[in-house]
Amino acid sequence: MAVSHTLLVTGGAGFIGSHTLVELLAAGFDVVVFDNFQQGSREALRRVQALSGRSFPCVEGDVRDAAALDRLFARQAELGAPIDAVVHFAALKAVADSVARPLAYYDNNVQGTLALLAAMRRAGVSRLVFSSSATVYGEPQALPYDESHPIAPTNPYGHTKAMVERILRDLCMAEPDFSAVTLRYFNPIGAHPSGRIGEDPHGAPDNLFPYLTRVAIGQLPELRVFGTDYATADGTGVRDYIHVVDLAQGHVAALRHALSGPGFTAVNLGTGHGTSVLELLAAFAAATGVAVPWRPAPRRAGDIAAAWADPRLAERLLGWRASRDIAAMCADGWRWQTRHPDGYAASGAGSGNSAGKP
Ligand code: WQD
Repeated sequence: MAVSHTLLVTGGAGFIGSHTLVELLAAGFDVVVFDNFQQGSREALRRVQALSGRSFPCVEGDVRDAAALDRLFARQAELGAPIDAVVHFAALKAVADSVARPLAYYDNNVQGTLALLAAMRRAGVSRLVFSSSATVYGEPQALPYDESHPIAPTNPYGHTKAMVERILRDLCMAEPDFSAVTLRYFNPIGAHPSGRIGEDPHGAPDNLFPYLTRVAIGQLPELRVFGTDYATADGTGVRDYIHVVDLAQGHVAALRHALSGPGFTAVNLGTGHGTSVLELLAAFAAATGVAVPWRPAPRRAGDIAAAWADPRLAERLLGWRASRDIAAMCADGWRWQTRHPDGYAASGAGSGNSAGKP
């Protein structure tokens, strides 16, 4: 009988969190979701349960609420299903918003993680997978970025992720039994192939892919391409887009690594390939038949010209590599968007009871 592990997944109702829940459940883990539903959706959790054929408890709460976390850890222990590890997604993640509201980002992302780590230690939980970002690298000194690239974020959001990585590294030095795997995401896009869950940003999206799919369904008039004069092949920004299901499966591999032994590890989750804005538009048109209208616009403050990952450490250490290409990212993201033009909102995914069920 395989030993099952019970995981606390903070922020599980979000874009990356919900896709990761599907893969964790498919891999045989039991999960408990903890989410304040500021960004995530209860409907997303209901659909994760339908997709996985498994139900799981969901507790509404904020990672900065130590008492709520203590109650959750204690209740799981009383139920005979103590938390074995934590997958920590809960955070604010918009770069421009972090420039406008830095204190909110330090409070949610840094203070929130400190409160979570303190509650984990009180409960005797010493395994963590942390959702970090390639934004911690800042301006590339060399490309592709590998995990030894200097950490030099250029915005408050990136600084919060770098600070948490520092905290985890120091904690693992101080507590030899603690295990922390920090995952540096590149650019996650697309959706689960079922079209049932996907990215559902509140308001006009900041990021390229959800913006272009909103243009493609006619909700937004056209895409502004921020900068066409970068030192790249076609002058537009180059990024390492990774299918959100590949990213989710990377979390399963990272969790297995965290459960296998102590220590701090930082790993890139990317494909190792760079795609420009215009190349993504062309791939989207080829995959969906929809030519997204666009116009050149000035560069966006803080943007870098090009970024892509060296993905070799993830393959060597975690036995994971991305397998889905840009065409699949476009086709799967389009299926979600066309089936849910208004995201989860149309599904009556408003406030529901928070006790127990999403
Ligand atoms: C991609 C490219 C833009 C919008 C950010 C965060 C990162 C991570 C992913 C959290 C760039 C161009 C964009 C648009 C455009 N988030 N673009 N028109 O900036 O690489 O990364 O999101 O972890 O931390 O920094 O992603 O999708 O915003 O931009 O031309 O309307 O698309 O200039 O070249 P980015 P993005």
